[in-house]
Formats: sequence, C-alpha cells, structure tokens
Amino acid sequence: MNAKKQIVDFVVGRNIPLGENFVQLHLYSPDGLPETKPGQFVQIQIPSSIHGWLRIPISIHDADTGKGELKLLVQKVGEGSRWIASCKEGEKLNLILPLGKGFSWPEISLRHEMEDPRHANDRALLVGGGCGLAPLYYLARCLKADGMPFDILVGARSKDRLVLANELAQLGPTGICTEDGSVGIKGLVTDHPLWKGVAYSHVYTCGPTPMMKAVAVEAKKLGARCEVSLENTMACGLGACLCCVTPSAQGHNVCVCTEGPVFDAEELGW
Ligand SMILES: Cc1cc2nc3c(=O)[nH]c(=O)nc-3n(C[C@H](O)[C@H](O)[C@H](O)COP(=O)(O)OP(=O)(O)OC[C@H]3O[C@@H](n4cnc5c(N)ncnc54)[C@H](O)[C@@H]3O)c2cc1C
Ligand code: FES
Repeated sequence: MNAKKQIVDFVVGRNIPLGENFVQLHLYSPDGLPETKPGQFVQIQIPSSIHGWLRIPISIHDADTGKGELKLLVQKVGEGSRWIASCKEGEKLNLILPLGKGFSWPEISLRHEMEDPRHANDRALLVGGGCGLAPLYYLARCLKADGMPFDILVGARSKDRLVLANELAQLGPTGICTEDGSVGIKGLVTDHPLWKGVAYSHVYTCGPTPMMKAVAVEAKKLGARCEVSLENTMACGLGACLCCVTPSAQGHNVCVCTEGPVFDAEELGW
C-alpha cells in the first residue's frame, strides 16, 4: 500500500554538479521521511515568478527513511529545473511526496524462504539514459537488497553526456552504449549484446520515449515483463487536472501521475 502523501520542508545538505547539465541534490528532513518506492516522484515548490503555482515533478533517486535522507538528480532544461539545480547547502525545499505508483518485482525474500520455482530464474535488465537513470538507481539498490539478480544498460549520445554510470556499476554489472562510440558499445541501448545473451524475466526502463518504446519491443521478444516510467508533462501531480493523461492499450486515457508514472508496457497504447 502507498504511504500517505506529505508536504515536507527539506534542507539541502549537498549539491553535487555532475557534468554541465546535471546536479545531484542530497536533502534532509529532521522530521523523517514517509516510506517511498523506486519509480515514485516528488513535486517541488519553486518561486511563483517561474511557474506560477505549479510545482516540478522529479523522481526519487534514492531515499533513506530512517535517516530522513532523500536524493534527487536534476537535469537543467528550463527555468524551473535550473532554479532547483541552483539551490545551495542550507536552503530549504518544500516537497510533496511520495507521489505515483512505483516499479514492482517479485518478492524475492519470499522466494528464498519458499523456493518458489516460478521465480527461480528471475533476472532483470534496467535500461535508461539521462535523468531516466535517477529512479533506476534507486530500483537497482532495492533489487540488490532484495537479492534479485540484474544487469544495467546505460545509453547516452556521447561520453561527455553520460551520468551515473560509475555509481550504477557499483551496484551491478553495467553495460554502456553511446551513439558516437566514444565509450562502450557504439549504438543504441537496444544494440547491446546483452539482449541476445540473457533470458531476462523483467525489464525496467526510464528515459526518452522512443528509447522506452524500442526497449519494450525487445523485452516482448524475450517474453519479459516490461515496466516503463513515463515523464509526461504534469501540473498538479495529484490526479486533479488530467493534463498528464496518456492513451491505454484499451483506448481510454490513463492518468500518469496517479496510475503511473510506472506502467506495464502492455497497458499503454503505444
Ligand atoms: C514523473 C516525472 C519524473 C521526473 N523525474 C525527473 C528527474 O528525476 N530529474 C529531472 O531532471 N527531470 C525529471 N522530470 C522532468 C522534469 O519535471 C522537467 O524537466 C521539468 O518539469 C522542466 O521544467 P522547467 O521549468 O525546467 O522547464 P520548462 O520551461 O517547463 O521546459 C523546458 C523544456 O523542457 C521540456 N520539458 C518539460 N517537461 C519535460 C518532461 N517531463 N520531459 C521532457 N522534457 C520536458 C519542455 O518541453 C521544454 O522544451 C520528471 C518528470 C516527470 C513527469
Ligand atoms: S498532473 Fe494533474 S492529473 Fe496528472
């Protein structure tokens, strides 16, 4: 069951630049954190002079409930994200969290106790690029803690646009694809040999929509369950304005901020 949404004032503990376009924010709440899941997001309040009353949705990149610690990865694209990325140590950020539905995976802890043969060969592939790697990092950490084996594939246009590859490699085997071949395999994430060599049971992806669509096609060929995390433009983030809807496979609209942002790829009308 999802934790109740809270409005929390966080203090910026660290702001770490990652290349030219990203920062990693370490936030602390003296009052602690609600339980969160990988794939869920926060809505950040920014000055009304930038987006009016609208907050900005950002994925939970990592969380430690006990310590009241939350990490975010922010890509500087427009005025709002640039403002968040400019926050300095000691400044306050007001967040609503946790929002949306996160990734799911078989309860491996149960599998180890009961030796459920249905999950005996489970192995996941996590595929992402850019700020899509933010929720996948948190997912990788949780899968590792839960004993679910996995590989990671990171895609970027070129070496200088890569983020989080070293951090992810500390959690599990990590392959890299760059479009110009400046590091790793030359090509798209779907060109990586891992797709041919391993029978994945689960594929998780977050990043640009064309990449996620291509990943969903490859996952289907393997017969793997594929979960995609959408980053549709949002306003309220709470299911009230319906500006985030996307077509489902059945032809009706689904609300990305409350029914997602994580969906089984088969549920979507792609
Ligand atoms: C559920 C969810 C999770 C997200 N997680 C992250 C995250 O972890 N880290 C992160 O950096 N960003 C994340 N985003 C995207 C982030 O919310 C947008 O980049 C931000 O709202 C842009 O606001 P802005 O004022 O900086 O730019 P704007 O001035 O609003 O837009 C500047 C440019 O960015 C484009 N843009 C705006 N929103 C998006 C979007 N959602 N996706 C792609 N392009 C967009 C606009 O079309 C425009 O070209 C997430 C979005 C969603 C919906
Ligand atoms: S952003 Fe308002 S309903 Fe989803």
